[in-house]
Amino acid sequence: MENKTFKAMVVTETAEKTFTRAITTRSIEDLPAGEVLIKVAYSSLNYKDALSATGNKGVTRNYPHTPGIDTAGVVAESQSDMFKPGEEVIVTSYDLGMNTSGGFAEYVRVPADWVVKLPAGLTMKEAMIYGTAGFTAGMSVNALIHMVKPDHGEVLVTGASGGVGSVAVSILTKLGYSVVAVGGIVEEKAYLTGIGAREVISREDAADTSGKPVLKARWAGVIDTVGGDILATAIKSTKYNGSVTCCGNAASPDLPLSVFPFILRNVRLLGIDSQNCPMALRTRIWEKLAGEWRLDGLADISSEITLEDLDNRIQLMLQGKNKGRTVVRVNA
Ligand SMILES: NC(=O)c1ccc[n+]([C@@H]2O[C@H](COP(=O)([O-])OP(=O)(O)OC[C@H]3O[C@@H](n4cnc5c(N)ncnc54)[C@H](OP(=O)(O)O)[C@@H]3O)[C@@H](O)[C@H]2O)c1
Repeated sequence: MENKTFKAMVVTETAEKTFTRAITTRSIEDLPAGEVLIKVAYSSLNYKDALSATGNKGVTRNYPHTPGIDTAGVVAESQSDMFKPGEEVIVTSYDLGMNTSGGFAEYVRVPADWVVKLPAGLTMKEAMIYGTAGFTAGMSVNALIHMVKPDHGEVLVTGASGGVGSVAVSILTKLGYSVVAVGGIVEEKAYLTGIGAREVISREDAADTSGKPVLKARWAGVIDTVGGDILATAIKSTKYNGSVTCCGNAASPDLPLSVFPFILRNVRLLGIDSQNCPMALRTRIWEKLAGEWRLDGLADISSEITLEDLDNRIQLMLQGKNKGRTVVRVNA
């Protein structure tokens, strides 16, 4: 391709160590090396993007940088036998948007082994409504349902109005689980019951501060996205043989806990990492999201914005106030 320019969000570090965001013009030849050049149709906003866009060096070491850990688009050029120009594809996680120029742009270039063919049954927009958050919800559900069946009892989902939480509540409800949601904001109660939660409890009620090593057993399973006191309380309140997945730290990276829930109640803690999920499992989860877990109400858990609207949404996300999934229309 001739040296074309394209539109992208660029985050810049100032001399005063502050970070500014602007939609500017970049050049294709400045993209990193990789076998597949993709014309981006949609991206999506994830918590990690909000961190990258505001200068979190744990996510992105060097600036200027274009965030966006998710991309769905059309192959523009390919040096790999696995992909042909014109094919619709998805890239989520790996290093995209972290230290590799990301999806908040009209083009990305990536290694071929990061690319997944768009599964039959999903449009590019639907794939980005799921995005990394939905994929992580899928991984969490996949891990949990091997251990916990609907007749074992209630499943708690924390951070339920966020991206991972909303998709987890919706899939578990579709699979016949009785879901209780932890929701931070009173107005979100109707949203959470609308997507399937049978009961909503507040963040305050979900975080026990008594210091007791175990609490009254209630949950057969838990999908946690927030960490901290809420995760510790959920583990202490999990029934004998129950399982808890842990994928995030929206509240805190700490886990103030003793070993007692594990050694007295046989509780299992299941770690979830989507970034380096092996390709075989990655493809299987995408096929489930497109097939047996496919959500009829994808539109109900998402809103669509453009690159220009991103700045405002990033602020809301960092304040814990962004509801559901935010899909970014780029070239569609
Ligand atoms: N391990 C992985 O591979 C992986 C992949 C994707 C995401 N993650 C992580 O998973 C977490 C959730 O991601 P997301 O995309 O769903 O983010 P999100 O859309 O911002 O949702 C996070 C939700 O957490 C709740 N929350 C926010 N601040 C809180 C606080 N101080 N205390 C308690 N709850 C709080 C809010 O829900 P309520 O208002 O309903 O309480 C919020 O909507 C993040 O930490 C993210 O980094 C990990």
